[in-house]
Amino acid sequence: MATIGLRAFTPDDIVAAEAIERAVYPQPWSARVFADELEQSNRVYLALDVDDHLAGFGGLMLVGDEAHITTVVVAPEHRQGRLGTRLMLGLVGAAVDHGARSLTLEVRTSNLAAQALYRRFGMAPVGVRKQYYRDEDALIMWVHDIDTDDYAARLDVIREDLA
Ligand SMILES: CC(C)(COP(=O)(O)OP(=O)(O)OC[C@H]1O[C@@H](n2cnc3c(N)ncnc32)[C@H](O)[C@@H]1OP(=O)(O)O)[C@@H](O)C(=O)NCCC(=O)NCCS
Repeated sequence: MATIGLRAFTPDDIVAAEAIERAVYPQPWSARVFADELEQSNRVYLALDVDDHLAGFGGLMLVGDEAHITTVVVAPEHRQGRLGTRLMLGLVGAAVDHGARSLTLEVRTSNLAAQALYRRFGMAPVGVRKQYYRDEDALIMWVHDIDTDDYAARLDVIREDLA
């Protein structure tokens, strides 16, 4: 059985992360973008390994009591195996640990897979950013009160579902 591990993303992960980006996005993040992100003090980046190889990653920007998800990516060959869910559990947990009370992100209006994942974490659409991407609008999604017992119970259900 594969070994899955979630840990902090480090500069040593950038080369593997770039390869995943290139496989997933027409305009992938460059090594420079990753390095710049990791240098910011208000960012949290997590890496997810399968058998000690990078299979996905995700990041957060923390501003006041809001956390903004900057990216969540699972390598195509590892999709629909709940790795995205594991990354989200890690990111939401990190957001709460850093004092965030709400969580937001932008997602392509056509990206129904990601939207379904985010809905499981209680995120709901609140608006559209026109032409946020070069070729498409973004749906803005939010979830509030992530620091509450009710939300912790929601995360417990997701976690139990993984087991
Ligand atoms: C979005 C993404 C991270 C999901 O990763 P994943 O590991 O496949 O997700 P999971 O296996 O944890 O799926 C969790 C839920 O998301 C939804 N989902 C995931 N893939 C889906 C698909 N292809 N179609 C419909 N729903 C999907 C389902 O609700 C799923 O719950 P289920 O397992 O109970 O069916 C992955 O598809 C990805 O990397 N996409 C490209 C990058 C991207 O779009 N990132 C988001 C940018 S905002």
